[in-house]
Amino acid sequence: MSVIERMLGRPDGPGDDNNGSLTIAPMRKRDLRQGILDTEAHAYPTPWSPGVFQSEIDQVAGGSRYYLTARRSSGTASGSRRSSKGRIVGHAGLWFTLDEAHVTNVAVHPDARRTGVATALMLALAEEAIRRECTAWTLEVRVSSDGAQELYRNF
Ligand SMILES: CC(C)(COP(=O)(O)OP(=O)(O)OC[C@H]1O[C@@H](n2cnc3c(N)ncnc32)[C@H](O)[C@@H]1OP(=O)(O)O)[C@@H](O)C(=O)NCCC(=O)NCCS
Repeated sequence: MSVIERMLGRPDGPGDDNNGSLTIAPMRKRDLRQGILDTEAHAYPTPWSPGVFQSEIDQVAGGSRYYLTARRSSGTASGSRRSSKGRIVGHAGLWFTLDEAHVTNVAVHPDARRTGVATALMLALAEEAIRRECTAWTLEVRVSSDGAQELYRNF
């Protein structure tokens, strides 16, 4: 049984964990400066520019793209807007072509890695691909990205 089959069926969903509550929600342009660009700069040798993200988000409404932001709330929110909504710790996206879903980006901030954020994002992408009845799920990974290869192998 794949991780998708195992985790999509679990009652508490992929967003609950032991490291604070993880929330996955559609990416908004204002998320870019609130954490996404910082994570992106840490994640890739050639990070996407704000313009690339904005162009991708612009295509969501037409149905050819799907982008998500992961936020983690520590559970010790002081009442401020930022702390109650949580801190942005990762992002991911899909590009739909015909009946295929292609993973365009998965990145997690270095200080939030190995806590299940990418797994939760990938599961949410998989749910959307299944909902749209995609028959294929593709991605590209750098040969040097051992962590990403291991993550993808789980799927
Ligand atoms: C790859 C990346 C997205 C993983 O994010 P993450 O939130 O740390 O991943 P998860 O915590 O969900 O990891 C799930 C599993 O993937 C595997 N994995 C993730 N990172 C790994 C690493 N650095 N080394 C080995 N295995 C790793 C493990 O099996 C892990 O399970 P475990 O922690 O119980 O052992 C993150 O390291 C990152 O942003 N890297 C830079 C950007 C990148 O390479 N993106 C991929 C597109 S090419």
